[in-house]
Amino acid sequence: MENRKLAMLISGRGSNFVAIQEAILRGDLNAQICCVFSNVENAAGLDRAKEFGLTAICIPSRGMERAKHEDMLIDTLRPFDPALVCLAGYMRVVSPKFLREFPSRVLNIHPSLLPSFPGIHAQRQALQYGVKVSGCTVHIADEGVDTGPILMQQAVEVVEGDTEETLSARILEQEHRIYWRAIALMLEKMHSRSRMA
Ligand code: GRF
Repeated sequence: MENRKLAMLISGRGSNFVAIQEAILRGDLNAQICCVFSNVENAAGLDRAKEFGLTAICIPSRGMERAKHEDMLIDTLRPFDPALVCLAGYMRVVSPKFLREFPSRVLNIHPSLLPSFPGIHAQRQALQYGVKVSGCTVHIADEGVDTGPILMQQAVEVVEGDTEETLSARILEQEHRIYWRAIALMLEKMHSRSRMA
């Protein structure tokens, strides 16, 4: 049996994770979400996970030493044996130790055309710079902030009068279109490699 289990890491609203779960339920993405993890207690995405009947886990990071929280996160995820760990609005940089635990299997989505505008407030950065095109990127996470091999990107035009809110909303629509497609691509790559071996 091919491992197609996805662990979702969120910190807030979780709309990207919901879009992925909806693609699974429609039959567009052949995968299963094995758990939804949040480092923030009242993350709305946790409620959505429960509504879907998914395993929702929270270990609050606030007030906890970073290394300790990551160790707990690793111990929590390991028994689920995820094929991929998907950062979906997880507002923390994962450590080298975490990446070693899931080598080349941690994906991230970012609301800009990387390598432009990494870090927080990517849409605000894009508007402040005055770019005419921004977008979103799904990539394999490495040790940097929003760096690593790019799997998929979608450009989004910046229009006259755009605010951070309007641009973010149009980019988010595209995030919801590309994340599950990038996951499908990644799973396909992983499994075709192992079929050939
Ligand atoms: C998205 O814009 C994502 O690209 C960024 O954080 C936001 C998360 O949104 N990393 P949501 O929690 O998936 O709705």
